[in-house]
Amino acid sequence: MPANPLTTLPTSAEDSLRVEQTLLDTVHIDGDPYLSEIASHLIKAGGKRLRPRFAIAAAACSLPDGEPVHLDVVRGGVSVELVHIGSLYHDDVMDEAKLRRQVESVNARWGNLRAILAGDYLLAKASEIAADLGVEVAGLLATTISHLCQGQVGELQTLYDTQRSEDQYFPSIEGKTASLYAAAARIGGIVSGQDRTIIDSLTEFGRLYGMAFQVVDDILDVVASDEQLGKPAGNDMLEGVYSLPVIHTLRSDAGADLRPLLSEAMSEADRLAAIEIVRNGPGVASAHDVAMGFVGRAKDVIATVSDNEVAQALAAACDHLLDSATAATA
Ligand code: IPE
Ligand code: IPE
Ligand code: MG
Ligand code: MG
Repeated sequence: MPANPLTTLPTSAEDSLRVEQTLLDTVHIDGDPYLSEIASHLIKAGGKRLRPRFAIAAAACSLPDGEPVHLDVVRGGVSVELVHIGSLYHDDVMDEAKLRRQVESVNARWGNLRAILAGDYLLAKASEIAADLGVEVAGLLATTISHLCQGQVGELQTLYDTQRSEDQYFPSIEGKTASLYAAAARIGGIVSGQDRTIIDSLTEFGRLYGMAFQVVDDILDVVASDEQLGKPAGNDMLEGVYSLPVIHTLRSDAGADLRPLLSEAMSEADRLAAIEIVRNGPGVASAHDVAMGFVGRAKDVIATVSDNEVAQALAAACDHLLDSATAATA
């Protein structure tokens, strides 16, 4: 896979340094090495840092090519990344995940109680930065966290439900994933002082990209290998999360074979059989079409914002996302 186009922009290396430094400074607590270590565990483990890149790119859409954004834009992006990382601490407790970002998850290393509290701590630090960036950003971040919780709870309400519909799936992924990309792009627009119409378009771009992002993540969960995923393929089915490729497979001719395998009592053999059915059925391709639809709309929106180098990289990042699903399926 080629690199994400956002990582090859002229300011990318310098932006990455600024993001990493701000992240680490934010979670370092003088005199408390224990909480500092837990709170920085997943930050040090890496991650793609896509949400801060979105905030930075959104702001840079209105700058001359190659000009770096103000540090406040970086801090705005970091606040969203901290919400993202905090939500991963909590998500891994909910999913009982053992691995995250190729390292031991926080819950696996320190237990659920500390993982929950350290996740709360990261959300609080995110709010502190947002408050410093102004009332609008603080309010937006708070709303984003509430949407994230709503999305996650919505998902819990349909666990192990083979009748789960797209009308239940889409609002859930909009809350748990797309709202963070929308917030990242919006904060980039707000902090860099862009026009309201541009800010709204950047937000919509982030939302559409985020929808495609979660659909692709859900496709990868069935088509990628255990090694690529760092967890067993089909883990979402095992956990009772029936995502778009599974929903589409269930309502196809292959549904009759898949439905009896999907239960809380799913065995190892059931998991392997279910993966084969979904991989060979029509659900992966039709979910990919849905992701392509979101990406097409996202590219239309960003084209109305700007056609500078960074706006073009954002459009190319949309294609790169789709390619990642195709590459894993191939
Ligand atoms: C993982 O997000 C969680 C989802 C929303 C699917 P990322 O794929 O952006 O995770 P990192 O930040 O690179 O680890
Ligand atoms: C994204 O959903 C999690 C959050 C938004 C917190 P997933 O549960 O699909 O994420 P992964 O697959 O564990 O990274
Ligand atoms: Mg998860
Ligand atoms: Mg997933």
